[in-house]
Amino acid sequence: MPPLNAETDLSPDPDALKSRSDAGTVQVRLTGVRFAWRRNEPDIIDIDDFSVARGERLFIDGPSGSGKSTLLSLLGGVVVPRDGKVEVLGENLSSMRGWRRDRFRADHVGFVFQMFNLVPYLSVVDNVTLPCRFSRRRRDRAEARSSSVHADAMRLLAELELDRSKLIDRAVVDLSIGQQQRVAVARALIGSPEIIIADEPTSALDEGTRERFLELLFNECDAEDTTLLFVSHDSRLGTLFNRRVSLKEINRSVVEALP
Ligand SMILES: Nc1ncnc2c1ncn2[C@@H]1O[C@H](COP(=O)(O)OP(=O)(O)OP(=O)(O)O)[C@@H](O)[C@H]1O
Ligand SMILES: [Mg+2]
Repeated sequence: MPPLNAETDLSPDPDALKSRSDAGTVQVRLTGVRFAWRRNEPDIIDIDDFSVARGERLFIDGPSGSGKSTLLSLLGGVVVPRDGKVEVLGENLSSMRGWRRDRFRADHVGFVFQMFNLVPYLSVVDNVTLPCRFSRRRRDRAEARSSSVHADAMRLLAELELDRSKLIDRAVVDLSIGQQQRVAVARALIGSPEIIIADEPTSALDEGTRERFLELLFNECDAEDTTLLFVSHDSRLGTLFNRRVSLKEINRSVVEALP
């Protein structure tokens, strides 16, 4: 693998980052958040105060089982804490009803799940355009960017080298894991949500594909000043982000995790 470091083309532009941190608009904030998967179990997440500013590229790492995916589920409103507030774009997700949280996520958050969560019976293109079916806002934004939602899906798929005709009409289950991962990323990016949450999005990609993938991800985020929350085991990627945290630095809860 060529050195992935702060000198590569993918590194953030310091002036752009400075102006963003000057602006300092808090996009995501956790206060007094405690979460356990089951009622009688100890908390996996216990975070006093943590926030992310608009346009930040945040890299989160931590050992397997330490709660990274759980934290992302809280940030995306997939689950709610037993205590505390999760605020995204100034809205308190913890006090929203389930359907409102789903609506909010569809409009404002592009989520790349660790297990992809693609819809198996839909084609590649239909998986990518799916968020625009649930969110008028994202449909309008995709249409503003390209001539149609379909054209915008094709643009993203082309950037991820998945636009070959023999691929796009296939059911996603017929794709390789790395290809499915790229479909999941195109689905998260379509319609330019304000926040992208990506859980190990490069784990199945080879070196060349990973670099092109990160370039696309960063370009898309820069174009819209999107906030990026990115979890990876590959700590070498951390240098490409403008902030890096280990879960243990912000989480008071100590779970038994593999080293
Ligand atoms: N849906 C769930 N229901 C019950 N327990 C869960 C669920 N998801 C995760 N857990 C538990 O929460 C703990 C943290 O898991 P999590 O998936 O957040 O870790 P992680 O840091 O993302 O790990 P990895 O790096 O392996 O993906 C683990 O003990 C796991 O068993
Ligand atoms: Mg995980």
